[in-house]
This record gives sequence, structure tokens and C-alpha cells, in this order.
Amino acid sequence: MIPFNYLGFVFKHFSSSLYPKKVVEELCMFIKPLCDDASVLDIGAGTGMMCEFAYRCNPKLRYVAVDPAKGMLKYTEDYVEVHTATAEALPFDDDSFDAVLMGESLHHLADPDTAMKEVVRVLKKNGKLFIYDFDKGTFLGKSLWAMEKLLGEPAHFYEVDALKKMLEEHGFHVHVSQHKWRYSVSASL
Ligand SMILES: C[S@@+](CC[C@H](N)C(=O)[O-])C[C@H]1O[C@@H](n2cnc3c(N)ncnc32)[C@H](O)[C@@H]1O
Repeated sequence: MIPFNYLGFVFKHFSSSLYPKKVVEELCMFIKPLCDDASVLDIGAGTGMMCEFAYRCNPKLRYVAVDPAKGMLKYTEDYVEVHTATAEALPFDDDSFDAVLMGESLHHLADPDTAMKEVVRVLKKNGKLFIYDFDKGTFLGKSLWAMEKLLGEPAHFYEVDALKKMLEEHGFHVHVSQHKWRYSVSASL
């Protein structure tokens, strides 16, 4: 298993370099249409990288981060409300959020299907989901998948067509953008 609890410092300083500029721009386009009183949940937030990118596009939103690793969450910025929890058992009421973000976290989840049911539960009607992760249909994506498997990680890497199908089965309308061996998804209920 990857010891995320001890990797907060590393992620705080180096995680942003794993995000292509185009993905950060797409995240901004995803955030911009939200009303100023909207609530945004970052799942598998780590040190809150996705919140930081989104905050630069609209600092007025409410930003909430969920991660099981306290050692990651302690590096989030002051404007982020933090909860130590897993994606599979979100500590929030139904219809609590306007948008959910998942940056490089989907493949780390123990049970993506249960997590997606939770995402749908906590999202409001017409809620939106943004995912950034690695495409198992590419050579680099498959190499990372093999490496994480060796490390004992769940390694739920998706090929984009399989991910689209999974999200549609959970009721989302899905748009996928390919970024070489990575992808971003902008989806809405
Ligand atoms: C590669 S890090 C990504 C962190 C952050 N989103 C970023 O882009 O820097 C993956 C994160 O997923 C978290 N994670 C692992 N299992 C999880 C679960 N079941 N539910 C929610 N988060 C989980 C880890 O603790 C870790 O912080």
C-alpha cells in the first residue's frame, strides 16, 4: 500500500506538476458556471490540490475535502473544510453538494461502485462531477496500473470507454477529454 499518511509534504509540493495545464483550464471551465453559494466536495483530496485549482477560479465557493489520510489533509489551505473519511462512506447528508471533484483518486478507491453511489447521493439534482485520472488503455497508464498492483494498491484504473459506461450506469451524462495517457471527465446528473 502507498503510505499516503506520510506523503503529505511530497504531495503538497509536487502534486500540481502531475496536472496538465489543459486539465486545470477544464477544471476552471467546470467551476466557473457554479453560483457563488455553491458547495464543492473534493474526494480523495489529499492535500487539496483540486480545491486549490478551483479556488483560483472562484474563491467564493465552499470547499470541502474528504480523505482517509490525516497526514495529507493537514496540508490543505485554510479555506478548505476537512473531513477524515472514505469515498465509500461519505459523512454528509443527501443532496449536500453542487459539484464533486476527484483528482488522481478514483483508482485508489477500494470500491469505486459504492463510492459512485455515494457521490450520486450527496450531489444535488443536476449536480456535477469532475474526474482526472490515468487511462489504462495507454502504455503509460497500464504501466502505472502494474506498478500500483505490485505495491498492493486497489489500482482501479479505467479505460475511458469503461469509465464512461460505469458513470452512465450511475445516471451521469459524460464528456471525456483525452490528454495523452491521462483523461479528464466532466459529467452531470
Ligand atoms: C494520488 S493521491 C491524490 C491526492 C489529490 N487529489 C491530488 O491530486 O494531489 C490519492 C488520494 O486518495 C486517497 N484515498 C485512498 N483511498 C481512499 C478512499 N477509499 N476514499 C477516499 N480517498 C482515498 C489517498 O489517501 C490519497 O490522498
